[in-house]
Amino acid sequence: MAQNWTPGSWRQKPIQQVPEYPDAAALAATEATLATYPPLVFAGEARRLKKQLANVAEGNAFLLQGGDCAESFAEHGADNIRDFFRAFLQMAVVLTYGAQLPVVKVGRIAGQFAKPRSSNVEVLDGVTLPSYRGDIINGIEFNEGSRIPSPERQLDAYRQSAATLNLLRAFAMGGYANLENVHQWMLGFIKDSPQADRYRKLADRISETMDFMKAIGISADNNPSLRETDFFTSHEALLLGYEEALTRIDSTSGDWYATSGHMIWIGDRTRQLDHAHVEYFRGIKNPIGLKCGPSLTPDNLIELIDVLNPANEAGRLTLICRFGHDKVADSLPKLIRAVEKEGRKVVWSCDPMHGNTITLNHYKTRPFERILSEVESFFQIHRAEGTHPGGIHIEMTGKDVTECTGGARAVTADSLSDRYHTHCDPRLNADQALELAFLLSERMKSGRDEKRLAIANA
Ligand code: TRP
Ligand code: MN
Repeated sequence: MAQNWTPGSWRQKPIQQVPEYPDAAALAATEATLATYPPLVFAGEARRLKKQLANVAEGNAFLLQGGDCAESFAEHGADNIRDFFRAFLQMAVVLTYGAQLPVVKVGRIAGQFAKPRSSNVEVLDGVTLPSYRGDIINGIEFNEGSRIPSPERQLDAYRQSAATLNLLRAFAMGGYANLENVHQWMLGFIKDSPQADRYRKLADRISETMDFMKAIGISADNNPSLRETDFFTSHEALLLGYEEALTRIDSTSGDWYATSGHMIWIGDRTRQLDHAHVEYFRGIKNPIGLKCGPSLTPDNLIELIDVLNPANEAGRLTLICRFGHDKVADSLPKLIRAVEKEGRKVVWSCDPMHGNTITLNHYKTRPFERILSEVESFFQIHRAEGTHPGGIHIEMTGKDVTECTGGARAVTADSLSDRYHTHCDPRLNADQALELAFLLSERMKSGRDEKRLAIANA
């Protein structure tokens, strides 16, 4: 167990991005209440995810992590969850086929409520109010009542997470995630896509594979792995009081686990070595993520790995790289080399969203081409370094929003205002997300063909 660590030892450390709750007693009372509530996830599930991520670290699986930038109380409906899950599973199938590897499925969902902000205040028409920090902390409406942090919101976030997780578990295990369904949805997407011809080849091969399996007697009726899937949850564990209240000892192992989600990550703004977030994370046994931005040096990174994964356990640590399409070539290779030189086992994942945000017509947006370009560079760099491009981390929704520009059915700068619904950062809509999966899948397949050819010719 981690030395001199308790679920509350982070309180002795400097901390970034803390909301100012006006009533400390009310906050403490809420945290005490939360501490009596049941855990949202079971430690055994977190261990199962860690094992799957160890597979990714070893080059034998691929990680797909995605969901809202920020979940919201107002949009907590079955349709939203279903549409997200539907888009996400289609991506997973396409990537499984492209990579010819198992895809580890992790949602940014059922707990993704707290947002770090670049400024503590927001000024609008001469009025200054505290910044919106996510529905678990305050309200997005621009008035004083809504922007004052309210502890009660933590209980609402807990309940929403429980309900969301309940539905996701039902979808994953109850038949909705049946591969045959997902395949049909995917064919529907292709039929309507302007890029239909391009995607059809890959889709046809998936169809043939499914038909072949059926012909030899492998079907969803007699094979649970065709109708069920492992789906895990994750979020940025920013609000440490909430996380502490849900940190529990696992009775089967005696270890501490964060039970607010299966995997949690540290943001790029809160990864200071001697600060509160790193302190909290070092003591829990879950698989964890660390966001890596352009300011992270190779030495910083190795020091952080020393603290966060001292036993060098594969699957424990996922490095979620978010450099920007124009910075990745400069930032990533030196981190990879440092990690390789030190023999550290990590999952390399690419977040092509957060380094590619621009403002157009007063909207925060992200051009699809830049997102694709960062992922492609990520793959190229790993191929050159001989390491495994282990996964992607994206902000997406199952709805037809207009938040990121570009894609086959192009969202233009002028159409951003049509359906711009995000509570925080711009997300890929369902079509853009699936398109990204198809394009990556194509690239992974051509990578494999090249390798095969090289072996055949050797
Ligand atoms: N169980 C396998 C997996 O999760 C196959 C599978 C079933 C699947 N339903 C799926 C894969 C939906 C992707 C999406 O990989
Ligand atoms: Mn975001």
